[in-house]
Amino acid sequence: MVHNLVLFAHILGAFGLIAAYTIEAIGLRGLRGATRRDEALLWFGISRGIVMRLAPASLGVILIAGLYLMATSGGPRGWSIVALASFVVLALVGAFGTGMPMARIRPAIDGAADPLPDDVRSELRDRVLLLSLDIRLAMAVGILFLMTLKPSALTSVVVMVLAIAVGLVAGLLPARGSRNEFRTAAG
Ligand code: HEM
Repeated sequence: MVHNLVLFAHILGAFGLIAAYTIEAIGLRGLRGATRRDEALLWFGISRGIVMRLAPASLGVILIAGLYLMATSGGPRGWSIVALASFVVLALVGAFGTGMPMARIRPAIDGAADPLPDDVRSELRDRVLLLSLDIRLAMAVGILFLMTLKPSALTSVVVMVLAIAVGLVAGLLPARGSRNEFRTAAG
């Protein structure tokens, strides 16, 4: 009974994480197209306000419940160790690839002129933010694969390397044009 309740919390945490990534993706699209200061602040408030609460809470629930499940269902196995290590990498990608750059961008928007100057718009359209999100999304799908198929350690490593490669390629693909496509002075 307790095991099933913890598994429920674990999967609920995974739902929360995917919801947070979805909101982050929508917010990022809005921020990348923002040309006015109030527009950028609105998207920032919508996306970061929710993501900064939902993502850490979901990560915490997934981790605590996952460690419990690991300890009570036969101890660490190849797939669960690879999942745990990947989970740490996923959290670090989020912190360094998105959390820190976003913390720098916020004061830049606050102090920016209206319409937003090119340097602030360039920061909002930083490729690292897209890369970070795409890598984390692909890694979450990879971890889900490990959770459900429980493959050997070697297969688990291959799955996660492939997931990271898919995330990298997706993040490096040319971004789709948006309504307010940013153009530099050079065009
Ligand atoms: C993005 C992160 C994660 C997602 C989406 C996820 C998802 C899932 C899902 C859907 C299940 C149910 C699988 C089943 O019943 O067949 C599960 C089970 C499990 N997860 Fe995770 N998980 C994640 C991270 C982790 C981490 C980091 C750990 C290790 C600390 C972990 C350890 C476990 C264990 C031990 C089970 C129970 C497997 C069993 O006994 O059947 N999970 N997870």
